[in-house]
Amino acid sequence: MAEQQAAQPEIYKGLAGVPVDYTAISKVDPASNSLLYRGYPVQDLAGAVTFEEVAYLLWHGELPDDEQLAEFEQFERAHRALDHVVKKVIDELPLTAHPMDVIRTAASVIAARDPEVADDSADAELRKAKRLFAAFPAVVAYDQRRRRGLELVEPRDDLGYSANFLFMTFDEAPELEVVDAFDVSMILYAEHSFNASTFTARVITSTLSDLGSAVVGAIGALKGPLHGGANEAVMHTFAEIGTAEAVGPWLDAALAEKRKIMGFGHRVYKHGDSRVPTMKLALDQLVAHYDRPDVLDLYDALANEFIARKGIYPNLDYPSGPAYNLIGFDTDQFTPIFVASRVVGWTAHIMEQRASNALIRPLSVYDGVERREVPAREPVE
Ligand code: ACO
Repeated sequence: MAEQQAAQPEIYKGLAGVPVDYTAISKVDPASNSLLYRGYPVQDLAGAVTFEEVAYLLWHGELPDDEQLAEFEQFERAHRALDHVVKKVIDELPLTAHPMDVIRTAASVIAARDPEVADDSADAELRKAKRLFAAFPAVVAYDQRRRRGLELVEPRDDLGYSANFLFMTFDEAPELEVVDAFDVSMILYAEHSFNASTFTARVITSTLSDLGSAVVGAIGALKGPLHGGANEAVMHTFAEIGTAEAVGPWLDAALAEKRKIMGFGHRVYKHGDSRVPTMKLALDQLVAHYDRPDVLDLYDALANEFIARKGIYPNLDYPSGPAYNLIGFDTDQFTPIFVASRVVGWTAHIMEQRASNALIRPLSVYDGVERREVPAREPVE
């Protein structure tokens, strides 16, 4: 009698559509195109509260009261300056190193030098998360400046997080509309459930590794153009296309070559990214502020044409790329800005994973060559 064939297990390539755990941090609902942070719609938070308040919310589960906010702001402002060892390490890195490599290296050094590095209690982990959050703007700002041959700008503790981030980058007090638009982008990037980088952080945490290692791994996952690297790639696309009139022929060629159009599509949202309308308003504000309507011409032309042809919608990286460009950030600093924001979501997830941990270790189905014998070798004389 013929042997019965063992049933092949179903493979969930890319874990698409597979729920792997619960989270109370954010809810992504593709059916209603909505994103809730701890129950609050993200578009209601943007503009109503600051990025610092959103960070507090994501970590603690509740928005801070006045006293809690003042205490957190004081902590954040006290940890903004670039540590001299981190600066020395950055200075040793070649300008050929991508800024994502720089912030990944800086994160590793900051974590290793954390005053509570050996304490993995929940309280210490939260303070480590807050110290990384406070330190990242100086890393991004300094890396952009050194690439332009400029000196480090020390932080100002009379400015909020976003205003100070821009001040350290450009060495001038930023205007309110610009600070507001940038702050909105930071709020929108802060958290998005089990995306690839957050999941990476959770996998690393699940082995009971430390918070710093999980953040460094997450930065590595975010770098790729299918994830965070897309905001940078959007600007390369815009530069390649040039003008709104060139969109049609450019798209003909790109689609014929089966190229992915960066800043479009999403694993979870198939009818538009919940964050895009809010970020588009922030982009509109910047376009008006800098008087650059040409940016919107190209933006709209590509979005409309691609949606019409493929039914694939822009994701958050599409409006944030040109927004950061207008503010004056170098294109390759866009994904490090994403890091500065998403470190909040990553560390909230690291703490949640730790609180109810199970080692993350999926199965694979072997489809290589069948068992075989190692060939006998002639003995060496
Ligand atoms: N350009 C062209 N075609 C696309 C795009 C795109 N941006 N996105 C999806 N498609 C097509 C695919 O080619 C595929 O077509 P096919 O069925 O004919 O092969 C179909 O749509 C399904 O796409 P998948 O890649 O299988 O969808 P998935 O859910 O795996 O991918 C992803 C999501 C990776 C984000 C994809 O849309 C993509 O590569 N986008 C460009 C990169 C990008 O913008 N990433 C940012 C993500 S959001 C963020 O990080 C804030």
